Amino acid sequence: MPRLLVIFSSLALALSLFFIAAETQPAFAQDTAESEAEDEAIVPFALPEDGPFHPENIEIKNNDAISDWYRSAHADAAAEAFRHWDGEEEINPVCSVCHSGEGFRAFHGLDGSEPGVPNEPIPTGGVVDCGTCHNPGLAEIKEITFPSGLSHPVQGVEAACMTCHQGRTAGVTVENAIDGKSLDESDGELRFVNPHYATAAATWLGGYGGAGYHYEGQDYSGRFFHAQPVSTCNSCHDPHSLEIEFEPCMTCHQGESPADIRIARQSYDGSGDTDKGIKSDIEANAAMLLDMIRTYAEEVVEVPIIYDGHSYPYFFADANGDGAVDQNEGSSVSYNAWTPRLLRAAYNWKLVTADPGAFAHNPVYSLELLHDSMADLGGPLGIDIAELGIRR
Ligand code: HEC
Ligand code: HEC
Ligand code: HEC
Ligand code: HEC
Ligand code: HEC
Repeated sequence: MPRLLVIFSSLALALSLFFIAAETQPAFAQDTAESEAEDEAIVPFALPEDGPFHPENIEIKNNDAISDWYRSAHADAAAEAFRHWDGEEEINPVCSVCHSGEGFRAFHGLDGSEPGVPNEPIPTGGVVDCGTCHNPGLAEIKEITFPSGLSHPVQGVEAACMTCHQGRTAGVTVENAIDGKSLDESDGELRFVNPHYATAAATWLGGYGGAGYHYEGQDYSGRFFHAQPVSTCNSCHDPHSLEIEFEPCMTCHQGESPADIRIARQSYDGSGDTDKGIKSDIEANAAMLLDMIRTYAEEVVEVPIIYDGHSYPYFFADANGDGAVDQNEGSSVSYNAWTPRLLRAAYNWKLVTADPGAFAHNPVYSLELLHDSMADLGGPLGIDIAELGIRR
């Protein structure tokens, strides 16, 4: 048994070292010197403290991290979020910041380049790789700028999540687009403003982050502080699998899943049901807002609108009102009769529904945006949403 031989010879070496040490040590120090010598003898073999020695039972954390990450959306090289540029064989620099680890590192200067949007396109084929989050340079990043213009202070890996999950537009983008235009008049220059996707960090910062369109005269709740132990993205999301582990939520909440969670005592959606999760109130109000968007387009603008979540830019025209998207030379006609009032409501609706975790990231802000958008469309439609039991 070569291993035993090695142990014996090391022990012999350690023992002789011990005798040398003992000669130079006062007698009272002998006990500690002896146990130190034994430790040194065993440590080089990295044996587990207690036998028997079974390598298959020893967990290697890196393997867990890799296999969790490998099954996550961040590693899904086949997803549209990473394949979108296959035709061009390179990713437009602006897009690469969030759609490739390499672009992300270039943006933050983690690859030794000047920080800022990369000068050159980035090759396709990248995903959100290990080096995106495990990068000592992240610690140097002190703030992240959001599309609203806000600079938000960050710490460590938060800088990564906040860079990529901030969306691409903000309430001010809509404000600038509709500035000076008459609220209920359609304007051929207006286009749908898309908040982009997976905008969790923007929702999370609420009114302070300025992701939503804010109606004049209303106050908006800021960042959702939640409770002290749930203060970062990774308090709820495993950073590798990205999944939510429900068990820790149950220290403070009840139910079978995040969708059941509710703290609010009032019903927001007019159902009067305060047993269901807050997620249901948000979904119900979002559905009602989409209904009002359709009714407004039909009755006020007189150009019916069709929402198709599968194709950009999502809102299409149905000018002849036959219930099907209008076609022009084989392609769908994007909605082209936006009024400022319609655009801001559609933007808020898309922002809230584009984040499947909005109910956990910032339920209060989400409900405020939905409420105010409905109240605004309700004006010209003669609908008083308070009478329907919709609360802010
Ligand atoms: C601020 C970060 C950021 C920037 C910049 C960005 N994206 Fe994205 N994008 C994302 C994130 C995050 C997702 C993931 C959404 C999901 O699938 O969960 C995404 C998703 C997408 C998708 C997939 C949508 C779908 O339906 O699955 C496309 C296409 C896309 N982005 C195109 C672009 C283009 C084109 C650009 C540049 C003009 C761009 N993105 C710039 C963050 C960004
Ligand atoms: C989206 C960001 C992100 C990506 C991508 C990522 N990690 Fe991590 N990783 C983290 C964070 C955050 C922690 C700290 C977890 C904690 O404190 O509990 C961590 C912790 C770890 C640990 C410590 C052990 C553990 O599981 O807590 C290892 C090992 C690790 N990561 C390896 C990897 C490897 C290998 C990859 C690529 C296959 C990778 N990580 C990709 C964010 C990331
Ligand atoms: C370099 C940009 C980038 C960084 C950094 C990043 N993400 Fe992502 N994230 C993405 C993209 C792109 C997708 C969509 C990938 C896809 O569609 O497969 C995504 C998807 C997700 C998803 C959705 C998972 C699903 O099942 O659809 C979650 C949750 C998530 N990220 C959380 C985080 C957290 C938490 C962090 C920080 C620890 C983080 N991300 C850092 C770009 C990023
Ligand atoms: C309070 C816990 C909590 C915190 C904090 C949190 N999330 Fe989430 N997140 C959720 C829940 C719950 C969902 C809904 C998905 C589910 O139920 O599995 C979700 C969904 C998401 C999704 C969409 C996943 C999908 O299926 O498409 C993304 C992306 C995301 N979160 C990113 C983040 C980022 C980035 C942060 C930090 C800025 C963050 N989350 C903070 C709980 C949280
Ligand atoms: C330490 C206690 C604690 C933990 C752990 C916790 N939460 Fe919370 N949660 C709270 C408190 C307190 C509130 C109310 C905060 C407020 O309204 O300002 C809340 C509110 C919520 C809400 C909004 C409910 C409503 O009716 O508005 C959701 C959704 C939520 N938490 C999801 C989660 C998820 C998902 C987890 C686990 C990943 C989690 N929470 C873990 C304490 C906690």
